[in-house]
Amino acid sequence: MLRMPCWRGRDSGHFQKPKISPLPTRTVRSCFFMPHPTTHSLAPHTAPVDAPTDKPFMRTIKSFVKRAGRTTTGQAKAFEDLGPQFLIPYQTQALDMAAAFSSVQGTTNLANAPLVLEIGFGMGEATAHIAAVMPETRFLCCEVHEPGVGALLKRMGEQNLHNIRICAHDAVEVIEHMIPLQSLDGAHIFFPDPWHKTKHNKRRLIQSPLIAKLSQRLKVGAYLHCATDWQPYAEQILEVLSSEPLLANRAMKKHPELQGYAPKPHYRPLTKFENRGIKLGHGVWDIVFERV
Ligand SMILES: C[S@@+](CC[C@H](N)C(=O)[O-])C[C@H]1O[C@@H](n2cnc3c(N)ncnc32)[C@H](O)[C@@H]1O
Repeated sequence: MLRMPCWRGRDSGHFQKPKISPLPTRTVRSCFFMPHPTTHSLAPHTAPVDAPTDKPFMRTIKSFVKRAGRTTTGQAKAFEDLGPQFLIPYQTQALDMAAAFSSVQGTTNLANAPLVLEIGFGMGEATAHIAAVMPETRFLCCEVHEPGVGALLKRMGEQNLHNIRICAHDAVEVIEHMIPLQSLDGAHIFFPDPWHKTKHNKRRLIQSPLIAKLSQRLKVGAYLHCATDWQPYAEQILEVLSSEPLLANRAMKKHPELQGYAPKPHYRPLTKFENRGIKLGHGVWDIVFERV
């Protein structure tokens, strides 16, 4: 099954090319390279050919391209009604998790409940399901696609979910700046954009530098759960996680027949999209590691 990098199809049914904004003359004019003065990258920084060699040139390769997409009336209303309660603005300081999850009037106080980070929830179908079956767990969820954020807020309203907070920002920066060390009980990365073409593989989210940072933010004994339906990416994920010294493969001993992959954990639902793929005979790989 081919998942397009820009996650088309499920809702809008179309794919839109990213707009290329005018860049300063010293940058490379490529829509796939976004210059950023302060942040780290997923892949090593490289200087463009015409950059002076004595000055470092910072360039960040993002794991996403912001897709155009319409926010529906229902999503816009959810933004207006629920955004103030559940959206967490991006900041460059560590987030006070207890304050961020302090009780919303009339609901359970989740200030000290287990904390799970989710990266890239798309339209939030799996997120809302998991939050509903694990009401005593806090979910801090990052997504850059605005209609997706609206869609999850809408689901939260419909299902009366109070244990989710959303940061509508690049998760790579959120991890770097907002998540304190050893603060997470778990992390979910479900179906990250596979970036199928070899020349785009460098945009994949799951790479060693990010996994090293994320692992430092997991508590000892916490888990990292990734899932993908693209076999070459599954192999890359298994390799990256296996080579991270702070992580150990939970499934290797229990399920040697799966060669490092894990059985689908019970809490991850089969989304409509995944179900369709399975019926067509496509594979899905779950990878679950533990922080040591
Ligand atoms: C293929 S979709 C999968 C969505 C969802 N997890 C699912 O299984 O349906 C990947 C999502 O990750 C988001 N994404 C990619 N890189 C991201 C990043 N660095 N920070 C936050 N979201 C990101 C994209 O916007 C996209 O919605």
